[in-house]
Amino acid sequence: MNASLNRRQFFAAGTLTLAALGLAACTPRQNSAFLAPTADAVDAAEARRLTTGVTIDRALTAEPVTLDFGGQTAKTWGYRGASATEPIRGNVGDLLRVTFTNDLPDPTTVHWHGLALRNDMDGVPGLTQPAIAAGDTFTYEFALPHAGTYWFHPHVGTQLDRGLYAPLIIDDPQERADYDREWIIVLDDWLDGITATPDQVFAELSRGMGGMGGMDHGGMPMRMGNTLMGATSDLLGGDAGDVYYPLYLINGRPGIDPETFTAKPGERIRLRIINAGGDTAFRFGVTEHQLTLTHTDGYPVEPHEAESIVIGMGERYDAIVTAGDGVFAVIAEALGKGDQALAILSTGVGTLPAAGTSLPQTRTPTIAADLQATGTVALPFKRADRTLSLELSGSMEQYDWAINGTRMDMEEPLRDALAIAEGERVALTITNSTTMWHPMHLHGHTYQHPDGGPRKDTSIILPGQALRLEFDADNPGQWLTHCHNLYHGEAGMMASIAYQP
Ligand code: C2O
Ligand code: CU
Repeated sequence: MNASLNRRQFFAAGTLTLAALGLAACTPRQNSAFLAPTADAVDAAEARRLTTGVTIDRALTAEPVTLDFGGQTAKTWGYRGASATEPIRGNVGDLLRVTFTNDLPDPTTVHWHGLALRNDMDGVPGLTQPAIAAGDTFTYEFALPHAGTYWFHPHVGTQLDRGLYAPLIIDDPQERADYDREWIIVLDDWLDGITATPDQVFAELSRGMGGMGGMDHGGMPMRMGNTLMGATSDLLGGDAGDVYYPLYLINGRPGIDPETFTAKPGERIRLRIINAGGDTAFRFGVTEHQLTLTHTDGYPVEPHEAESIVIGMGERYDAIVTAGDGVFAVIAEALGKGDQALAILSTGVGTLPAAGTSLPQTRTPTIAADLQATGTVALPFKRADRTLSLELSGSMEQYDWAINGTRMDMEEPLRDALAIAEGERVALTITNSTTMWHPMHLHGHTYQHPDGGPRKDTSIILPGQALRLEFDADNPGQWLTHCHNLYHGEAGMMASIAYQP
């Protein structure tokens, strides 16, 4: 054997070892204190779900794309195979099979936001599956568990603040469709490929704002780099958001090139509104129209008349509007940020809304706390078997967003996991000890707000306030709860809630 061959063999062996180590590091590390995502209990829960015998096959690819925003182009990452106008859609009980290809240069996953689906399909890398490497494919396959307006996005780094999101709509054939048309409306704040990448924004925020965060700029937010200083909204209890976005979009389109939805006067239109933003709460409404809110986060609420609705990142609202005669502005005001997203509702002749048309505010905007779950989805009364407390902490100054004093490390997602057990009624008390609002999201369950409030999976918690939520622990596995401000979550405002065997 000659020396060079030996060296080659040595290097080959070294490479193999490193690759094997790399794989081990990416594979969810299991911890016997908790049920694994592949546990029999997860299969048993899936077997209890309704099945229609129908399989919906879809192909989905994440890939680099160039988007056109009314003449301004942006290089970004997006999904091929689904969009606001081409959602993934099926009936409750259908088996959804998505053949997913990762054509991005980075690893990714797909998380099905709001679904109480089988745990091993939840798309959280390091917890429910290994991240899908660049060039790899993965098949997501699960029963569609309940009707409503959902969406999906990656659960890796800041990828959600690119173009990687689309709606997932689940229909219930039993539901009486009391409307003539439907319009899916996806709201987004956009910067990728225009002012910065989301990774650059996160790096900038992570350096901390050193006391500038609370600065008052006389009501006008001010841009510094990719940070927006002094964006405030009373509806959000002060600081509204911290990221400067050059564009606000409805269905991927900016206000200068808005989507136009046409209908006939008098038709009832079901709007399915999804906030896919990274750092922006929207106040949504349609000029000269009332919204009749019918659902939030997929679940029905007692019909509620509203002039406008406040929607945090990750939240969804369904509303019925009865179309007037003319041309109307569909507006999502970026709260505190002095800008808005726009689309057009047209039922006849009329002039386009003038630039700068804003959403009236003659009535107090509606928030989740104004709504009541319908009797069909309200949780039956039961004393809580277990109470979990989450305290939100951190500040813009340090950018050290955390839950119960720890910042999530996705290398070790179960380290400080909160334990629950199947069959329990769990009370989840979230206390916001920060000076900023947070849209908190729970995976795999739809909890109920107090006092007969709505069933939801994402809820705005204002600074200094606490929210007591209840859910039934009926979906075994390992789940995340986190702030859906993408940058807060990435900084560590996440925790895991895992089932004991
Ligand atoms: Cu919209 Cu953890 O997700
Ligand atoms: Cu937050």
